[in-house]
Amino acid sequence: MEENISNKIDLNKIDISTEPPAEEPARQYYFMAKCREWVRKFEQKSGRLPTACVTTFGCQMNARDSEKLEGILETVGYERTDNENADFVIYNTCTVRDNANQKVYGRLGELNGYKRRNPKMKIALCGCMMQEPSVIEKLRKSYSFVDLIFGTHNIYKFAELLCASQEAEGMITDIWENTDKIVENLPAERKFPFKSGINIMFGCNNFCSYCIVPYVRGRERSREPEDILREIRGLVADGVVEVMLLGQNVNSYGKTLDRPVSFAELLRRVEQIEGLKRIRFMTSHPKDLSDEMIQVMKQSSKICRHLHLPLQSGSTRILERMNRRYTREQYLDLVQRIRREIPDIAITTDIIVGFPGETAEDLEETIDMVRTVKYDNAFTFIYSRRTGTPAAAMEDQVPAEEVKKGFDRLLKTVQDTARSQVARYQGTVMEALIEEVNVNDSAMVTGRLSNNVVVHIPGDASMIGKLIPVSLDECHGFYYIGHQAGASEGTA
Ligand code: 5AD
Ligand code: SF4
Repeated sequence: MEENISNKIDLNKIDISTEPPAEEPARQYYFMAKCREWVRKFEQKSGRLPTACVTTFGCQMNARDSEKLEGILETVGYERTDNENADFVIYNTCTVRDNANQKVYGRLGELNGYKRRNPKMKIALCGCMMQEPSVIEKLRKSYSFVDLIFGTHNIYKFAELLCASQEAEGMITDIWENTDKIVENLPAERKFPFKSGINIMFGCNNFCSYCIVPYVRGRERSREPEDILREIRGLVADGVVEVMLLGQNVNSYGKTLDRPVSFAELLRRVEQIEGLKRIRFMTSHPKDLSDEMIQVMKQSSKICRHLHLPLQSGSTRILERMNRRYTREQYLDLVQRIRREIPDIAITTDIIVGFPGETAEDLEETIDMVRTVKYDNAFTFIYSRRTGTPAAAMEDQVPAEEVKKGFDRLLKTVQDTARSQVARYQGTVMEALIEEVNVNDSAMVTGRLSNNVVVHIPGDASMIGKLIPVSLDECHGFYYIGHQAGASEGTA
């Protein structure tokens, strides 16, 4: 399923015997036409289309970037597969914690095995991990079978790089340190026909002391509101009913534009798009969440009743060392203001355990915060030392065994609180967007409520993409079993 102008551009009309155009996105469409020529020749020679597998690590941003990679592979004619024993395999990597990096190195070994049996196979790596010079050094030294490496800033050049790699022998590396460029109107292949992520901004300017994101994703850059609205209108015309607006810190959206626009204002304008049913966004930094935003959420009939509000730590002392720029009291006050205005909202969070200098008392404060805020869900992470970040140079790193003990205690509290929070919906009727046929039971379908809770109900594939009222009958910890309790929207 293509979006934007890609389905209007006819690659056959592009003359690839001339020099490539300098301007974007025309340049990338030229290389797509060239790649497609290569695919045709491959097909003539082998009697089949080349296969391509895109594997994604990490966050929603990476998931959206991968849809763009898939959009280009699809446009040029590759056959999509989930099997990594393919003609073209690309890993879109994450480096936020070290275990994500280790996973990539482990799986590269397996890919090398496939490549020995299929020497024409091309292996490509992109994403955040590639922005780290030490990673590139290691890849050059010990993983020289990798064919193509590029980073986060030049992902829009994928068609051009793919083309170069199809023809070349040996490793091609193209990493940029930074960019202020945003290229619009490239194709994307959506995973779900009825919902989609939309980048509203790239990069981050916050420099939380543990976090590598500002170094690998660069400075904050917002897309023009008109470009975002045009993309969403196009998606809605193509069947999308739910969008997720994506940015590392959506609450500071628009500040760097020539004509600044607040995130609250952007939301008001997205809300007006006819045919769009649900709006989500991720991630909000507590320090930037304004009262205006709370009012916009309160008055909206489309913004989902879910807010992901990363806490990171419940101790003001640690928050200061993390450079989060809010205190425990300010965070609590914000939660109270949100709950007062929007009582039915679900709040979820991220928490890091074992940040340098964290004591048993600090962790106690975090655990207490989880009990007080009553999160609907929380993602808990063990602190990972990321080279180049200020926290990595702090002297009082916490020993692993101690961190593990604290982590287990926190996890138990998080699970208990989340369970009782999710249980409070028992017996009510809410609207669910049906997303897929249940993976374990084909007589059931799986949907998501506005508050992000998952519900399984009897049904079939014809319900996918529809908003259906469901009765929440049995709470099973983090999800519900229910049944349809009325007609879906748009049916008599
Ligand atoms: N170690 C552990 N967790 C981290 N996160 C970011 N950097 C690190 C790190 N160095 C977590 C934060 C963030 C989430 C996306 O990942 O909790 O909100
Ligand atoms: Fe990292 Fe902080 Fe930026 Fe989030 S806001 S990406 S945690 S630096």
